[in-house]
Amino acid sequence: MQAKTVIITGASAGIGKATAEYLMKKGFHVYGTSRKATGNIKDNIAEDVQSGGFIRMINLDVTCEDSVKSAVESIISEEGHVDILISNAGIGIAGSVEDVSLSEASLQFDVNFFGTLRMIKAVLPYMREQRYGKVIVISSVAGVISIPYQAHYSASKFAVEGLIEALRHEIAPFGINACLVEPGDTRTDFTKSRIMAKNASEDSPYYTRFKRSLARMEKDEQNGASPFEVAKVIYKMIKRKNPPVRVAVGFQYKLVLLLKRLLPARVQEKVIGIIYN
Ligand SMILES: NC(=O)c1ccc[n+]([C@@H]2O[C@H](COP(=O)([O-])OP(=O)(O)OC[C@H]3O[C@@H](n4cnc5c(N)ncnc54)[C@H](OP(=O)(O)O)[C@@H]3O)[C@@H](O)[C@H]2O)c1
Repeated sequence: MQAKTVIITGASAGIGKATAEYLMKKGFHVYGTSRKATGNIKDNIAEDVQSGGFIRMINLDVTCEDSVKSAVESIISEEGHVDILISNAGIGIAGSVEDVSLSEASLQFDVNFFGTLRMIKAVLPYMREQRYGKVIVISSVAGVISIPYQAHYSASKFAVEGLIEALRHEIAPFGINACLVEPGDTRTDFTKSRIMAKNASEDSPYYTRFKRSLARMEKDEQNGASPFEVAKVIYKMIKRKNPPVRVAVGFQYKLVLLLKRLLPARVQEKVIGIIYN
């Protein structure tokens, strides 16, 4: 049987790295991407003799269309097919809506939303041709419940959620499916890589509340789940013939999203205010 080829964006750290390792052990040919990768596409940086799986790293910046296209083309010329895209690369920008500049907000969307869109547009022609494919996008619980001082991050993930809901209809006739994986707080480099809005300084009228809210976020992330918990859920979505549109990672986040559906908006807003303000 032909080994499955998977592309994982942002595989140098956190959830992407854990997923690359997990899938390699399940026998996948994993092409992980990073802006820092320098090696040759033919070089395995890790392999699992028992399963036949390997990880190769390839240079890719999701904000650059040429970089995305050339990375996908080189994977196709190696493997002849691409079965699964895991669009995982992401960043977070923190600050109040008023303090985050338009260029900072654009960067947030360029990586999280347009980066995902560029990747999807690059793989779909191949997936349509082979009449098989799976697109798994790493969203967030913050893509369903918007978090203060991370409004642009949440908005970029809300946008990704809207994209995938519609995309599922369009690609189903070609035998391709798409779904969203929504992690909650997860222990990764995301916390230390978070970009602070330049204007979120001591001069900002939002500063005290922003700092308090940020401290809460950082603490929750660093005490959060292992990225391998997310990897396991991604693998489950790969195995499912017809994955659901979205799946949250972990019992407590499934419960949070259930409450989001059941509770009146006023109550939800109060709870978020208590946690983050
Ligand atoms: N950690 C959490 O609590 C949490 C919760 C919910 C959702 N998520 C989502 O999970 C995904 C992975 O995040 P993580 O927590 O694993 O963060 P992480 O440890 O900081 O890893 C982020 C990855 O994204 C890559 N990346 C960043 N900008 C990129 C760009 N312009 N082009 C290509 N790659 C880029 C980085 O690779 P290089 O720097 O090597 O290029 C890195 O491998 C993100 O979409 C995030 O929004 C995280």
